[in-house]
Amino acid sequence: MKHLDVSAIKDGSVIDHIESKSTLKVADILNIQNEEQVVLVGMNLTSKFLGKKGIIKIGGKIIDQKEVNKIALIAPNASVNIIKDYEVIKKFKVAVPDIIEGIVKCFNPNCISNYYNTQSKLHVVNKNPIKLQCHYCERIMNAKDLVI
Ligand SMILES: Nc1ncnc2c1ncn2[C@@H]1O[C@H](COP(=O)(O)OP(=O)(O)OP(=O)(O)O)[C@@H](O)[C@H]1O
Ligand SMILES: [Mg+2]
Ligand SMILES: [Zn+2]
Repeated sequence: MKHLDVSAIKDGSVIDHIESKSTLKVADILNIQNEEQVVLVGMNLTSKFLGKKGIIKIGGKIIDQKEVNKIALIAPNASVNIIKDYEVIKKFKVAVPDIIEGIVKCFNPNCISNYYNTQSKLHVVNKNPIKLQCHYCERIMNAKDLVI
């Protein structure tokens, strides 16, 4: 059996290939402090691809598409592995959608989307690094401006 940097879980989800410095941000949007089962977080692990990477393992939870879309904004290189009986049964890369609705707020405090109960709507103008443009006020937002 091969060696794992962060120990195995029986069933759940592994978010791998997170840019190391974004690991806790991903943990934050996934709300892992509210999970009931084992959660393991590793940071500054060696990665051929990223140099250093972070990894999050969440027991008993199957990550859903909405969460994957959020992860993609913070960690565009991440891959998600679904684990069952200690084996990877499904693996996919996160993907940034072309339009993001209701996940990220517009950064412009005067934007109409921040006034009425309007759902935010942002066009993805660049995926990696992330760059978004508000559908309503056309304000451009970069990774550092994102409020998720
Ligand atoms: N039972 C398990 N519990 C927790 N983590 C696991 C388990 N099995 C695999 N993993 C982790 O899930 C990720 C994907 O596992 P896999 O065996 O596909 O590794 P890999 O060949 O390095 O894949 P990749 O090409 O995606 O890096 C790795 O980070 C691995 O450590
Ligand atoms: Mg690997
Ligand atoms: Zn706006």
